[in-house]
Parts: sequence; structure tokens; C-alpha cells
Amino acid sequence: MSQREVWNSKIGFILAAAGSAVGLGNIWKFPYITGVHGGGAFVLVYLIAIVFVGLPIMIAEIYIGKTTLKNPVGAFKECSKGSNYFKKLAKLSPAAGFLGVLSGVLILSFYSVVAGWTLHFLFLSFKGFSGTKENIEAHFNHLYSTPSLMILWHTVLMVIVIAIILRGVQKGIEKASKILMPLLILILLALMSYSVFNGGAEKAFKFMFYPDFSKLDEEAIIQALGHAFFTLSLGMGVMITYGSYLKDKISIIKSSVIISIMDTLIALLAGMVIFPIVFSSGLEASSGPSLIFKTLPTLFAKITGGSVISVMFFLLLFFAALTSAISLLEVVVVYFVDERKWSRKKGTIVVGISIYLLGILSAIPKITVGKESVLDFLDDITTKYMLPLGGLLTILIFAYFIPIKAIKDELKLPKYLFYSFVWICRVITPVALIWVVLNKVGVL
Ligand code: TRP
Repeated sequence: MSQREVWNSKIGFILAAAGSAVGLGNIWKFPYITGVHGGGAFVLVYLIAIVFVGLPIMIAEIYIGKTTLKNPVGAFKECSKGSNYFKKLAKLSPAAGFLGVLSGVLILSFYSVVAGWTLHFLFLSFKGFSGTKENIEAHFNHLYSTPSLMILWHTVLMVIVIAIILRGVQKGIEKASKILMPLLILILLALMSYSVFNGGAEKAFKFMFYPDFSKLDEEAIIQALGHAFFTLSLGMGVMITYGSYLKDKISIIKSSVIISIMDTLIALLAGMVIFPIVFSSGLEASSGPSLIFKTLPTLFAKITGGSVISVMFFLLLFFAALTSAISLLEVVVVYFVDERKWSRKKGTIVVGISIYLLGILSAIPKITVGKESVLDFLDDITTKYMLPLGGLLTILIFAYFIPIKAIKDELKLPKYLFYSFVWICRVITPVALIWVVLNKVGVL
């Protein structure tokens, strides 16, 4: 059997993992849900959720990957072997891996379509946005009602993703992340300085960091919990897979903290880019999902240097989406490579094309499941049910089936910190996730 690929450097792993985490969720979803839920108090809950829900699952996933050196299915199989109690139950662990691989297939199929929208808007930005508000908002409506156009961009995106995954861990994922992530951060900083110097910054800062608890309802807390978890790409084995390419010397805790901080900072920075522009134009922050594809382009048309800003902005979104899409395909491919003994080439091509074909359904809004488009349907079942369930199973397997001593030896935390960590993983994180899942299912 050929040897398992490994990351070339620590920073390569961190950038690839951060690349997966930093996606449309940070730059598109975070600002708009913060807007909808009224700002500061929501951000505070989100930050707490990152620490008590996101971070523990991230540590669990990287631990599982690093110690088993396997894809999610193989990794969970391995974990269940060491279990001292619930032996029968532990045998079911690989199901969590299958759930992850299946989530990867479904998510990438529609994520690629949405990532395609960012390419379309990048392309439009080069021509520049002009005309009335209605004219500019019509761009998105036109795109959304023209399947052939969406399929075109979806095709471009999947070809790029497949080409990168074909090249493997070091030459593909790591290299792409090392180029795209620094560029992403540079663009973000440049955009932020623009935003800050062009007015509205103070109001934006207050909006994001001054907590007004009267705006915080249960719905907002569930959103914050769910998002903390989604934004770090948890619950489907991305971090297990990326962790399985780690060479020995790396601190799981330190890497997890760095990745989470990067992801959080980038989301906050994205807010500091978007809200000043929105506020200085006298608009409301709560316009929802269309904030990026409708509201912002109308603003880009008005502000000085708007065309440069809009090219940079959509490039940023595209880079963010691309590095996330790569990680989605990798999880599925490596399952077939490890468990079915396929070559990377066969795996990438067969899986890539299948997901591409499935994705076409999401590019045709007329096809519906119940009342929803395929895109909304897949987005719903994955982000509302499959990922939280996957995350819950991951943390339970980690906290209850893996011998504590093994975890203790690997993490090398001071005693009191370690036992607090175990307690968080055994009780706090699962309870929070169960609450989210039950709420989404409609039980609560
Ligand atoms: N974290 C990504 C974002 O913020 C979205 C995401 C969730 C994801 N789960 C994932 C990306 C799994 C890749 C793999 O947009």
C-alpha cells in the first residue's frame, strides 16, 4: 500500500484547516445573521459558543484524525475498539463517519453552485455595477432564474476543485491554501482600511461589539450555537481527515486554538468591512441573505473606487469558498482511497463528477423538493440536521469511547485544565448540541 500523504509543514496544515473553516459562512452568513439578530449581544453569544462548542469538537476531530491516521469512517472504527464501556454501542461509531462522508457529498453539490455565484459577480464587477437600484438588484434575479448560467459557473468551480484535489495533499491542498489564504487576509485588510476610512466605522464597531441584550432571544442563541459550529467546518470529518495527514510533532490544542481564532477574526473583520459600507449609506443591517448579492452591489455602484472594491470583495468571497470546497471533496475522496482502495485519481474523478452532476439539480430552482428548491432543501437537511448530529456523535465518541488516559497523554494539559476540558466535552458541548438539534427538529 502506498504511504499516507502528509502535510509538508505545520503552517500548511493550519492554513488548509483555516481555509476550510473560512468560507461563505464567515463573509456572507456571519455578517447577515449578526445584522438580523441585532449585533453585539449575538456576537458575544457566538464567541462563547466558539469556545464551548466549536473548540472542543475541533480538538476532538483533530485528535481522532491524528491518532488513527484514517478517513472519518476508518477513524471512528478505530476509536470504537478502545472503548471500555458501552462496547455494543461503540461498534456503531463508523456510522458517524458515513454520515460525514454523505454530508460532504450533499454540501459540496450545492456549495459549488453558490460559490459559482461569487464567480459570476466577480465577472460582473470587472464590468462594474451601474444603473438604478432595481437594475443592479436584477443581476442576482437574472442569475437565479437562468439555470444555464448557474450550471456554467458550477462547472468552472468543480473543474478547479477537482484539479486541485487530483494533485494531492501537499501539491494540491497545501499549496493552494498557502497561496489563497494570505491573499484572502490581505484583501480583507485592504477592504477594512477602506471601510474604516470612509465613514460608518464607529457605528459599525458599536453595532458589533456593544451588546444590547434586549435583542437576544432564544432563536438568536440557537443560531449563534449552530453557526459557531458550522463556521469551523465541524461535524463531517474535515478536521479528522486533515488531522490524519499530520506528522507527529504538533500540538493539537495550539493548532485548534489558532484555527478557531483565525476563523473568528476573519468573520469579525468581514463584519467590519460590510457594516461600515452599509451604515455610511444609511441602510439597515438586517436585510438578510441578499445583503451580499443585492445590497452591496448597489452600494459599490455609488461609492468612490467602488469597482475596485467590488472586484476585491468578490475575489475574497471566491477564495474563501474555494478553499472550503476543496476540503469537502477531499473528505469524500479519501474515504474511497482508504476504505475502497481506489487510487486518488480514480477517486477524485469518479466522486468529483458524481457530485458535479448532483449539483446541477441545485442550479435549477424549478426542481423542488416539497416547496423548496433543491439548493435550499440540501442546505437545510445538512446544516440543520446532519452536521449538528455528526458533531454530537463525534464529541460523544471522543469523550466516552476513547480511553481518557490516551487523550491525557496526547494533549498534555495541566491537570485542572484537562479535567475541565473533559467535563466540557462530556456534558456542556453535548447538551448544547442536543438542544440545537431538538430545536431544529421542532421538539422544543
Ligand atoms: N465553514 C464553512 C464556512 O464557513 C462552511 C462549512 C461547513 C464547511 N461545514 C463544512 C466547509 C465542511 C467545508 C467543509 O463557510
